Amino acid sequence: MISNVTQNLFGLLVFLATIVITKTEGRTLDVLNDKLSSSEYDTQERPNAGGPPVNVSVELYITSIHSISEISMDYGATMYLMMRWFDPRISFESPDPIDLRSGSKLQKLIWTPDLYFVNVKQAELHQVTETNKQIRIFPDGHVTSDIRVTLVLICHMHLHRFPMDKQLCHIEMESFSYSIKDVHLKWLTVNGSDSHAVSLPSHDSLPGFILERPNMTVETPLYPM
Ligand SMILES: *[C@@H]1O[C@H](CO)[C@@H](O)[C@H](O)[C@H]1NC(C)=O
Ligand SMILES: *[C@@H]1O[C@H](CO)[C@@H](O)[C@H](O)[C@H]1NC(C)=O
Ligand SMILES: *[C@@H]1O[C@H](CO)[C@@H](O)[C@H](O)[C@H]1NC(C)=O
Repeated sequence: MISNVTQNLFGLLVFLATIVITKTEGRTLDVLNDKLSSSEYDTQERPNAGGPPVNVSVELYITSIHSISEISMDYGATMYLMMRWFDPRISFESPDPIDLRSGSKLQKLIWTPDLYFVNVKQAELHQVTETNKQIRIFPDGHVTSDIRVTLVLICHMHLHRFPMDKQLCHIEMESFSYSIKDVHLKWLTVNGSDSHAVSLPSHDSLPGFILERPNMTVETPLYPM
């Protein structure tokens, strides 16, 4: 009975939040719609096309790590992938940013970086009602995208000290179709430090394991063309 009440309350809160978001859209949304639908905006073309690369800063907010398996050499992780970039083509006059929620037609019209996870075995976009993806556009043309995914990631584990072992597992991302000449990926920096770029779940969420601080690097492998 009690859990029923809690669920109803939760449903109500979510519903209210939805109404608030809808209200902040409106006329500015029409302006944005016109910009993105105009023939001058090409969804397939990156910002500053032909010019300097577009900087995309990346942040991972990992909410859980689970099913670590020495047998299949993989682990599961649920996370928010947040990206931020600047698209000077879509600035608009407004005091507030615009949120484009899952299912919004405009989400498909805006250029977004084509990041993918390299060492993934299995990926799942959350689609409880719709894909969990939100895009926020700031009046000056800055854009943030926020996607929630659950992944099964490959981790080559070294088992010679099993069971007291320490494993180094990667989460590797790259742009699918853009080289460094077009898209410059970097970890989010706050005040010159990238220590906020990857957040791990709390220790007690993963009994029997200790998570050490993550180590972020950026590499530029050379691919044969
Ligand atoms: C990208 O970032 C670099 C510094 O990290 C900066 O020099 C460059 O101007 C930025 N590019 C754009 C298009 O903003
Ligand atoms: C970054 O620096 C500014 C000014 O020094 C400070 O107000 C802010 O709290 C800092 N942010 C973080 C996340 O440390
Ligand atoms: C982080 O990774 C780099 C490159 O692999 C390595 O040189 C460095 O020692 C690592 N730092 C830590 C604290 O593990």
